Amino acid sequence: MDQKSVIYIGMVGFGNIGQGIYKLLEKNRNLIEAKIGAHLQIKKILVKEISKTRELMIPPSLFANNYEELIADPEIDIILEVMGGLHPAREFLLEAMSNGKHIVTANKAVLAMFWEEIIETARKHKVDIYFEASVCGGIPVIQAINDGLAANNILSIWGIVNGTTNFILEKMTNEKKNFKEVLTIAQKRGLAEPDPTLDINGADAAHKLAILSSLAFSKRVKPSEIYIEGIEKITLQDIETAKEEFGRVVKLLAIARVEDEELEVRVHPTLIPEDHLLASVGGEYNGVVVEGDVVGSTMYYGLGAGQKPTASAVMSDLIFLARSISDNVAGEVSNCWFITDNPQIRKIRKIEEINSRYYLRFTVVDQPGVLSAIARILGEHQISISSVIQKERKKGDKVPVIITTYGALEKNVQEALKKINGLPFVREETLLIRMDRGE
Ligand SMILES: NC(=O)c1ccc[n+]([C@@H]2O[C@H](COP(=O)([O-])OP(=O)(O)OC[C@H]3O[C@@H](n4cnc5c(N)ncnc54)[C@H](OP(=O)(O)O)[C@@H]3O)[C@@H](O)[C@H]2O)c1
Repeated sequence: MDQKSVIYIGMVGFGNIGQGIYKLLEKNRNLIEAKIGAHLQIKKILVKEISKTRELMIPPSLFANNYEELIADPEIDIILEVMGGLHPAREFLLEAMSNGKHIVTANKAVLAMFWEEIIETARKHKVDIYFEASVCGGIPVIQAINDGLAANNILSIWGIVNGTTNFILEKMTNEKKNFKEVLTIAQKRGLAEPDPTLDINGADAAHKLAILSSLAFSKRVKPSEIYIEGIEKITLQDIETAKEEFGRVVKLLAIARVEDEELEVRVHPTLIPEDHLLASVGGEYNGVVVEGDVVGSTMYYGLGAGQKPTASAVMSDLIFLARSISDNVAGEVSNCWFITDNPQIRKIRKIEEINSRYYLRFTVVDQPGVLSAIARILGEHQISISSVIQKERKKGDKVPVIITTYGALEKNVQEALKKINGLPFVREETLLIRMDRGE
């Protein structure tokens, strides 16, 4: 069969990322097309509201009136989905693949939620699906796990995969500002959405972890199977105490690790040592440490979101895919190791079953007997205390007491905290931050 000289794209979405891809194609067209060996052309673009004022003015004839226009066009080889959301993104992707179109998508939510269905449809219709931009924007971590580390049993993934929360935690640390103040700064700088809920509460990081761990461990991990905690409860005081007293920094980590044939998948604030590889990942940057049984630890670092980094990742997918379309081999060999039932992983561990060290901040009335009562309950639950800190002494008023523990079973810690929180001298629900391995 002859090589295809023009590869046509039907694009769904022309917002921040869509326009970034358009600009990148114009800027680096010579390089991109030389790598593909064919001309790359965006033939139609579907948006919600054609008449909207946009940063980029493009010929109005490029806009499609409905999705069927893209699907029914036999010239269109690739559907590029940069629309986001679950619906109609899921339906658009499934319909496109059923009609023989290859896919590039940046949509982490739809992949995390409908992974099996999307992958099965791609296989069934022998089309390729690429999604590098769905996790950590410009960092090629999907390619690294999927291709570069393919010979390894992956042992663990430790990642800062949400730039917004990383920016907030670092700014709180460096400028001694509280959470709300810093969130407002992040929103003003365009680093946090007007509604930042999905970033702050860890849901965005969980979507990314679902994709990363499904690929890395050849085991389908649903977002609902991931334990999620956000950064809302972390105070400036916790950040300062962790730094001054324990030489640790708070990071929102996405963690996946295998132990005894069980997989832990969790997203939560974590206190890591200041000299840990991920401690130096600052601002809105992302960093992911992947440990393989052969290669050891590898680290990936860069901007995890934003127009240019994300467009860079999407375009790399388009280049790979367009090259195989041009050579008439697209869909012949699946581009991902989509195995979903790894027999070496017996189950996904519940959060109650993990073992960790803990930072516990009790808010109590300063009166005799408080510490001994707390210590007794911890002891009864097989939790050994590593350190106790009580800085301020205000008689009769509430004071923070920080206790760190040695390794303990989370179930025991939760049960102990339930009892302690019910004691008459406890004024606020106790804050727990995991001081996870990394040491
Ligand atoms: N922003 C980032 O830094 C980043 C990073 C990595 C991945 N991503 C992913 O990239 C995707 C796009 O993000 P974005 O920031 O570019 O979003 P965005 O700026 O909100 O753009 C969304 C685009 O989709 C169009 N759209 C929405 N609903 C539609 C529908 N029902 N039918 C047709 N078009 C529809 C919108 O049309 P109108 O223009 O007419 O409103 C808009 O052009 C998301 O999946 C996101 O998770 C984003």
